[in-house]
Amino acid sequence: MSFEKDSKVWDLYHQKTATGGLIVSKYAQEKEALFPRNSVIIDLGGGVGADAMYFLEKGHSVIILDISQYALGIAMANAKKKGFESKLIIKQVDFSLHRIPLKPATVDIAYSRLSLNYFDKSETALLLQDIFTILKPGGKAFLTFKSPDEVEEIQYLRKHATLHDTTPIPGPEKASIRNL
Ligand SMILES: C[S@@+](CC[C@H](N)C(=O)[O-])C[C@H]1O[C@@H](n2cnc3c(N)ncnc32)[C@H](O)[C@@H]1O
Repeated sequence: MSFEKDSKVWDLYHQKTATGGLIVSKYAQEKEALFPRNSVIIDLGGGVGADAMYFLEKGHSVIILDISQYALGIAMANAKKKGFESKLIIKQVDFSLHRIPLKPATVDIAYSRLSLNYFDKSETALLLQDIFTILKPGGKAFLTFKSPDEVEEIQYLRKHATLHDTTPIPGPEKASIRNL
């Protein structure tokens, strides 16, 4: 699909699923406890910003990248309501087309929940390489793809998914999880 089509599809998804309230994920709450205080966090595919708002409330600064301009607008509107707008940056990015638009060594934490599992191996490898590059020395990445914790997702996949390929992603040497 094209950027225009994909962004519209995700806008529609967010229009349908946005409830008005933001519910922070368990994953965000668990992992935030491990972040250095006052971190600069990039939330890749952060959507309407439920987890980002939690990070802002904990005193961090957040950059959300997402394909959905609609979701990003909601994230910024909610941040404004709470007076966090100066600590939030939003940017529309399609991870299948664009490199991550940040200078090297700019973030303490790279965070992503259920948003990096849409791309083929080479795109995913490039994304991981970019994530490695934008992390400050000693920075950490907390990335969740599909997880057994996502009970509904996994039940759906068990019923509907077909396993095509189990080959591990051959990411660039320096972007391996061990080195992150
Ligand atoms: C399942 S939602 C997860 C949202 C949020 N991280 C959470 O945990 O609730 C996937 C997110 O990825 C974004 N997304 C999907 N495809 C994308 C792409 N090609 N580039 C950037 N963001 C994308 C969607 O707009 C959506 O916000």
